[in-house]
Amino acid sequence: MKSSASAPGKVILFGEHFVVYGVRAILCAIDKRIRATSQLIDEKEIRIRSEIGDFEAPLHFPEADQGGPRFMRPFLHVTREALREAGERRGVEMWLESEIPPGIGLGSSSAACLAATASVAGLFGKKPREEILRRALEAERLIFEDASGADTSVSALGGLVSYTRDGFERLGSRDELALVIANSRQVHSTREEVLKVREFRAKNPEAFDAMCRDEEALVGSALGLLGSGNLPMLGQLMSKNQEMLKEIGVSTEKLDLLVSEAQKTSYGAKLTGAGGGGCVIALVDKSNMAQTLDSLGKIGQCFVAKVDLDGLRYT
Ligand code: MEV
Repeated sequence: MKSSASAPGKVILFGEHFVVYGVRAILCAIDKRIRATSQLIDEKEIRIRSEIGDFEAPLHFPEADQGGPRFMRPFLHVTREALREAGERRGVEMWLESEIPPGIGLGSSSAACLAATASVAGLFGKKPREEILRRALEAERLIFEDASGADTSVSALGGLVSYTRDGFERLGSRDELALVIANSRQVHSTREEVLKVREFRAKNPEAFDAMCRDEEALVGSALGLLGSGNLPMLGQLMSKNQEMLKEIGVSTEKLDLLVSEAQKTSYGAKLTGAGGGGCVIALVDKSNMAQTLDSLGKIGQCFVAKVDLDGLRYT
């Protein structure tokens, strides 16, 4: 028997990095997915197959020595936990298929953790979404201990989500929201960018606190505007958020270039996710989508993303 699950990528509309320090963020699941398919095998092994590499590990190995590439550890962890819980002695082969390129800030690692957790748990009966989210986040924190949980939560729930470390809620559906996403083609490490911001904060504690307050106010205004559908104002807030991200040092020249180009035609633009590379998002509607795609397409690879309303799915 095979068990499959898939989860969407995400963009952060407002509040990345500041969310790690308790500020609210607004995120949106996008219509690009990662699928995991698991199957029990007679060999006492865990085999992970993916487009970015294959890995095989014995079923039992010492906790301290997880072995293998770092990014594989969450998959091994959730698989071992599911087998242990079910008292299963056979191994597992898991395939990961992705529409989301890794390392560009679109939530590939959170979506992969969720899909892997749900697919392997599903071999022994489906678990509620909240339980999969809890397990996936625990697994993700094995390799990225500071993860706020925002990416994983929006990928699990789908739609638009308002998130703080104390809790999160799904916002009213705005499935008509359209974003142009442009990839800088600079691969980044979320962990390194989060560490960079931690250093900035250590060197500038008062300035950073003031920025957190400003960001909280900005996100509050954005929440009000999301309901009203006022795209020009919402876009302005996105561009303002970009200025804050620049100040904390996570933008790059290429991202700045993409943002300033996008701002000429869209309602507003900013980097999304950890920065240091990755993607920018530009808020558009039918009136300015083609123009924005055209101008960004000249300097980066870009596409239109729509809101994914399903979140984690057993499929
Ligand atoms: C990464 O997509 C978002 C960050 O805020 C980190 C996190 O929330 O865990 C940079």
